[in-house]
Amino acid sequence: MLRIAVFVSGRGSNLKAIFDSIPDYMKNVKIQFVVSNKIACGALDFAEKNNIATFSISENKETESANNKLINYSKLKDEFEKSKIDLIVLAGFLKKIPDFFVQFYENRIINIHPALLPAFGGKGMYGMNVHKAVFKASAQVSGPTVHFVNTVYDTGKIIAQKAVDISDVNSPEEIAERVLKIEHQILPMVIKKISENKLIFKNNRVYLID
Ligand code: GRF
Repeated sequence: MLRIAVFVSGRGSNLKAIFDSIPDYMKNVKIQFVVSNKIACGALDFAEKNNIATFSISENKETESANNKLINYSKLKDEFEKSKIDLIVLAGFLKKIPDFFVQFYENRIINIHPALLPAFGGKGMYGMNVHKAVFKASAQVSGPTVHFVNTVYDTGKIIAQKAVDISDVNSPEEIAERVLKIEHQILPMVIKKISENKLIFKNNRVYLID
């Protein structure tokens, strides 16, 4: 069983896509935790409605809350070790994860970015900022990238990408819509491959095998 923790900040459509892929599309995956930098957001609501344990990250070490909802990264790491978390999935998570946490989970944190990295990535490139930059550049294709997370924004090894034709779009919102649809396919696909041990490293690249 691949035990995953999903990190969210927004409405949670990627979380829902992962959740809806279990068990028909991917059998041996369990969403153990949903974690957010927010106290409340659509994705946390979705998790709670579906009985998935949730945490809200609080950087303030002294902060605790009655319902044990707030947690800091060092305590979260302890929780993850106790629950034997295998993979962390950033699905619209808008904060930078501390280096100690990323280094501890080296090659076990993946992120979905709404553009074809290494283009249109880096600090400040999230959500509509990405699609506005893609539109402004008059890019003719865009698409989601799933990549490993390292300590520098959006520079971890790329795992999967899919190009989407945007030559006929009239707004960044149209790009966002087309890319999001593919995000909901590519992220579960990568998680499934990892759960089946079908992600390999070779020639300093990542391969997803059949
Ligand atoms: C998606 O566009 C994703 O590419 C980006 O943040 C957005 C998350 O949306 N990282 P949702 O919260 O999963 O709906």
